[in-house]
Amino acid sequence: MKKRKMAKKKYKKEFEVTPWSVEGKVDYERLTKEFGLKLIDSKILERIKKHTKELHFLLRRNIFFAHRDLDWILDKYEQGEKFFLYTGRGPSGKTHIGHLIPWIFTKWLQDKFDCELYFQITDDEKFLIKEQTLEEINKNVEENLLDIAAIGFNPEKTYIIQNTKDIKLLYKIAIKIARNVTYSTASAVFGFKKESNIGIIFFPALQAAPCFLPSVLNKKNIPCLIPAAVDQDPYWRGIARYVAPKLGFYKPAQIHSKFLPGLKGEKMSSSEPESCIFTTDSEEDVERKVWKALTGGQKSLKEQKEKGGNPDICLVYKYLFYFFEENDEKIEKIYSECKKGERFCGECKKYLSSKIKEFLREHKKKRNIAKIEDYKKNLNILEMKI
Ligand code: TYM
Repeated sequence: MKKRKMAKKKYKKEFEVTPWSVEGKVDYERLTKEFGLKLIDSKILERIKKHTKELHFLLRRNIFFAHRDLDWILDKYEQGEKFFLYTGRGPSGKTHIGHLIPWIFTKWLQDKFDCELYFQITDDEKFLIKEQTLEEINKNVEENLLDIAAIGFNPEKTYIIQNTKDIKLLYKIAIKIARNVTYSTASAVFGFKKESNIGIIFFPALQAAPCFLPSVLNKKNIPCLIPAAVDQDPYWRGIARYVAPKLGFYKPAQIHSKFLPGLKGEKMSSSEPESCIFTTDSEEDVERKVWKALTGGQKSLKEQKEKGGNPDICLVYKYLFYFFEENDEKIEKIYSECKKGERFCGECKKYLSSKIKEFLREHKKKRNIAKIEDYKKNLNILEMKI
């Protein structure tokens, strides 16, 4: 009995994923089972491809790997019922490359399926869980908004909602959600403790509210699809999908990505700036950080030639695979050359640095001319309807 208890403890400790922290090496298949998600398989990829003609590399490479009710979203779409997209940002600091993964994918979905997008900025969430003032968080919001606008979402079909400023749009829906979720249900999902502040206990109702906003505004149910990394799942599993039938709404569907790790192997986190690539990093920052990244290379060139490297544990390879090398043939070549000892870490690091610098140059150009007002102006129309 004692042995079993200990085994359970060890199992639990291997990794943990919550909306507020990711610890350990995530086993995505096990997480899929624990959260009750479905893996994205070739059948559903074929269905998507029927509409999009091509598959985004984040789908081809299984980086978007799990979903809930994506098949239902496609059924509805095929029956002529359009869905909207919902995603977001909690402005705790600067934007890093990991954040861009769901946003770039969301833009692709918006273009391919011609969807409306609701983008929530949860400045309240970060105020409640971080030791930052509202003024500091607002500075992050201003910076993050430039990155969001730089993605190039369709301004005619995108609504950016900042919770502390645009609360009128969400509040009535949020209190209806909150009345239907007990403390014990929310606590089981989010692990609240006695010392948790009462703000964060209510907050999940606010993150769930945009799932239903278009249905309220249009006075008819509209399917919702949420692209995000898998850490956001508790909001949908534990709150939005749980209350949807009680409030007469469709349950939101989800499509989830894995996490881009930090350059030193752990979950990318703004509190470890040397292991993150931020959108505002200089070329020197990029070179320094990539140079220090963990690789799967051998100790010497001689050994690398003899034994080959291990791209499966190499962070430089991971960055190319997840983001910076979209070309499948090239990424396969890098993988096999490394394995055969025909490629060396210095060469890969240089290649990754050049790819990141090229991406950031373009992104910064778009950031500099970004017009946030284009997205904000649409909110007046929504506010008149609520
Ligand atoms: P936030 O700001 O922590 O993260 C923003 C988005 O980025 C994803 N993400 C990552 N994706 C890949 N690799 C990483 N290393 C990585 N780190 C973060 C997150 O899953 C998220 O999609 N509470 C939310 C804000 C929010 C939201 C939403 C997110 C409000 N409504 C609806 C998604 C969908 C938050 O703090 O995200």
